[in-house]
Amino acid sequence: MKIIVTKNYEESCKAVADIIINQVNEKPDSKLGLATGGTAENVYPVIVKAYQKGKVDFSKVSSVNLDEYVGMDPKSPLSYRKNMDDWFFDHVNIDKEKTYVASGLNNMEEEIRLFNEKLYGDKQIDLQLLGVGISGHIGFNEPADFLTAGVHIEDLTESTIQANSRYFDSPADVPKTAITMGIGDILKAKSIVLIATGDHKAEALTQMLMNDEVKTNVPATFLKLHTDTTIVIDKALADKIGYQ
Ligand code: F6R
Repeated sequence: MKIIVTKNYEESCKAVADIIINQVNEKPDSKLGLATGGTAENVYPVIVKAYQKGKVDFSKVSSVNLDEYVGMDPKSPLSYRKNMDDWFFDHVNIDKEKTYVASGLNNMEEEIRLFNEKLYGDKQIDLQLLGVGISGHIGFNEPADFLTAGVHIEDLTESTIQANSRYFDSPADVPKTAITMGIGDILKAKSIVLIATGDHKAEALTQMLMNDEVKTNVPATFLKLHTDTTIVIDKALADKIGYQ
């Protein structure tokens, strides 16, 4: 894994945005794997700014998002589809027909079939953007005795429900299940970039960066098996975990 330590979170967002912009400039018809979540959120405005300055063109780009809550209406302001439209798709020249964020309202068997078609029907994901949960999840692959390789429905852990309750009126309103790319789907991307910040992510990052173990109770440690993964953290988080 390549580790980039930046001065602060703002610089991390710039570094990750640069990686995505370079990917698209090198391969204009790139297929991007995209993420939502508070950490990834601030990467998108940096990319939008670069687009507005004419530094990148999304007209040939396609995308697949990592996950969505089961039961979530794509039109809801809390849906990952709406997040992606608001943060990114509505501000660049991407063809929305070529973007896929799973629908939480569809029949889930049918949605899993569609998700797989979007992942494997044409080309491989060139670059997958990731955040990491406090639980160590990537996508919504939560800690467990075993992980699931393909697209599936995942029960969210209490830690994830608590963490994501900041967007809802109360923890009771947070959906308890999500449809997500599996760990194998994520590892099939040609390259991966993960952004993390904050003391609350220290345990996950310690397990990722400070030992050589791969364990199902910290799913993000599976990124150690991938040949082209970049982890971007800021100095405060690096100091917290003792990474030099
Ligand atoms: C989002 C996703 C999640 C988040 C993770 C971190 O599409 O798949 O794995 O990346 O929960 O979320 P934040 O950044 O809000 O802490």
